[in-house]
This record gives sequence, structure tokens and C-alpha cells, in this order.
Amino acid sequence: MIVGTQVVERLAELAKLGAYDQGIDRGLFTATEHEARRRFAGWARAAGFDLEQDRAGNLFARRRGGGDGRAPIVVGSHLDTVRTGGAYDGAYGVVGAMCALERLNAGGTQTEHPVEAVAWAGEEGSRFPMGCLGSGAYAGLNSIEAIEALVGDDGVRFVAARDGAGGLLPDVRVREGFPRPAACLELHIEQGPIMERAGVRLGVVSAIAGQVRVEVEVLGESGHAGTVPMIARHDALAAAAEIALALETLARQLGECVLTVGHLVVEPNQTNVIPARVVFRVDARSVDDERVDRLEAGIRDECARMEIQRGVKCAIKTLERRAAVSMDGGLRAAIQEALGGLRAAQRDAHGNLDIKVMEISSGAGHDTMCVATIAPAAMIFVPSAGGRSHVGSEYTAPEDLELGVEALTRSIVAVDRLLSKK
Ligand code: GLV
Ligand code: MN
Ligand code: MN
Repeated sequence: MIVGTQVVERLAELAKLGAYDQGIDRGLFTATEHEARRRFAGWARAAGFDLEQDRAGNLFARRRGGGDGRAPIVVGSHLDTVRTGGAYDGAYGVVGAMCALERLNAGGTQTEHPVEAVAWAGEEGSRFPMGCLGSGAYAGLNSIEAIEALVGDDGVRFVAARDGAGGLLPDVRVREGFPRPAACLELHIEQGPIMERAGVRLGVVSAIAGQVRVEVEVLGESGHAGTVPMIARHDALAAAAEIALALETLARQLGECVLTVGHLVVEPNQTNVIPARVVFRVDARSVDDERVDRLEAGIRDECARMEIQRGVKCAIKTLERRAAVSMDGGLRAAIQEALGGLRAAQRDAHGNLDIKVMEISSGAGHDTMCVATIAPAAMIFVPSAGGRSHVGSEYTAPEDLELGVEALTRSIVAVDRLLSKK
């Protein structure tokens, strides 16, 4: 039988921070995101864990290990949200990690490795234009200098935000550098419909899709909406719309990839003025990096076509690129074994009622895809109701949240044992 943790209550507590009628908006280093990190620190202190943060804004709660000087197993996710976020994407993995460490305490379980519950900073890239900002810094994929030079969509510089009221926690030590972990685990909601449709309650992630984020600036020519003849126009928005539709068609034709134009700025954005300038961002993903390359090439081709056909100018900037990553085979096997134990315990408690487990790839990006470049890494998924995510109606049932925490706790122990043999 699964023993209840505080996972549901804590998620409800965090869900109030940044809540509005469209969901939750909790950008990195805002007052509400700061408060979420403060709550995390409070839970850690109450449980007797040691707190540290780093210059990227990552926050670590360490449960000590028995072995001498071993690198930690880092377990976590993110507390920031997209601007229309739900209560579970990221927050579940952070709260779940904290609850798992508390369960190790409650069971008197000694691990050889220290285990750190982590709140990775700015995974969504919804304020500063870099996804997986904190985990990317931790993995050495983005230099702290490059991160410090970022300017948020609200015009605030990263350094000012980090060193201001919503930034680092004033009473937590700032760690030097970015030490390498022994392994990385992340618990997350699936964010898609596959597990729910298959009646599966736990997913072991096989790979995380690679992605590229590209910003395109289209410069056209402004003018009076009532007087400039249609054939004499260089409408930046019409050109951007054609590029977006052509890219959508390309992604459909290629298959096994997804492409989204989800951010668009139109200037001057007035009903009776021909758009002069449009900036839009493309997000393209696949577990096959070649498909991502082809989509990125497609952006260049479509922009070139519009320059000729519509007489606009396009400037293309790649904001970030992350290769697809496979999850570590040894860790996946250890997790599957741990889940086998969990399934047997559930069968004993509930008769024939087995828990279905599947291997699944992730179309969503995660902090673990960065940390996986420097250490063995793996992820566990629980189902998302209706596959909904990045919307306020995101939901996962309490019994699945609890099951995921139990699965994570057992997986931490299994991974600690696996790595201690080496
Ligand atoms: C993060 O949620 C992403 O996949 O963009
Ligand atoms: Mn997300
Ligand atoms: Mn997430």
C-alpha cells in the first residue's frame, strides 16, 4: 500500500503562487517564483536537509549520504511555469523529490550517495529567452556569463532579477561553480495522452526529443491600410503567416516531428496600418535530430522564398539547440526493477490489481536532457488527464501523484545501489 505524502497539499499550495484566470504564470525570479523557492527551502529545513543555491538560480536540498565524498544523485525539476501554466509541470518533480527524500528519512534508509532535491532554475524559458537555463548552466552547456547577459521579455536583465528581491534566497549559501553529479533523476507528468489512453500509471522514459528554438525578424514596409494597393505591399505579417503555414506543412510531411510558432510580435499592431515588422519564434522537435535539422533548414528556405516573393527582409537567429538524448540504460534497468518491487507490493495489497508500466519517449523538453550530457540520467512519468499541459487545466489524479513519489523513492535507492557497486 502506498503511504501518503504531502505531495498533493504542497502542489495545491504552490498552485496559488502566480494563479490567474488563464492558469499559473510564475516566471523565473518573479515574486511568486521566489516564494515557491522559499517554500521549498522551508520544507528542506524542516526535514534537516542542507540548502545551497548557485549563480544560475538552481536550489539544492541535500540529504547526506553514508559514503565518503561521493557526488550526489540529483533529483528534481523546475518551479517556473509557462505564462499559462498548470499546477504540475515542473512543480510535481520538485515537490516529489522533496517528498521522496522525506520518505527516505521516515524509513531510516541510508544511501551511500548524498541525494539532492533540486529546483532547477528557469526551465521553461518563459521570462529569459533560454530554456533549461539553470540545468544547462549546471551541465556546462551554457556559460554563466552568457546567462548573466540575458535580458528578459520584460526588459529586465538576468543579473538584476537574480540579485533583486525576486532572486536568490538571501539566507542560503551560494555554491561556487557547478559540481558534477553521480546521476540525475526527474519525476514529471507525461504532458501527453499516451499513458492515460493505454491505462498505464508509470512511464520509464526512453529518450527526450531534441529541439531547436529559432527567432525570425521579418521587416516589411508600413503604410496606410486604406490606400496602398494590394500589389504594392510588403506586409511583414502576411509574410510571417506564409512562413508559419509552410513550416507546418513541412513538419506534417516529414512526420515524427513537431513544429510550433507560438510567439509573435507585430509592429505597429494597429488595425489600419500595414504591419512593418514581425518577430516570431519557432519551436521544432523530434527524437531524430536529422528531422530537427531539416525543419531548421526549412525556416531558412521559407524566409528566402518570402524575401523574393514579398520583398521583405528576414533575419534568423537560433536561440537554442538541444540534441535528443537517450536515457541511461543502466538506470532504466534499475528503475524497472524497482518498479517491479512496487508492482508486487501493490498486488499483495490489492489482489490482482497490477500497475501498468511502459517505456515512453518524451516530446517535451526537461532539465534532465541537459544533465544527461554529464551524468547517467533517467525519468519517470505519471499520466496527464486528457494529455493536457501548458494550460491551466493540467491535472493528474492524487493516487497517481502518490504512486509516482513511491516509484521515485524506490528508484533513488535502486540507483544508489547500482552506482555504489561501481
Ligand atoms: C518545456 O516544457 C518544453 O518542453 O518546452
Ligand atoms: Mn513545461
Ligand atoms: Mn516541465
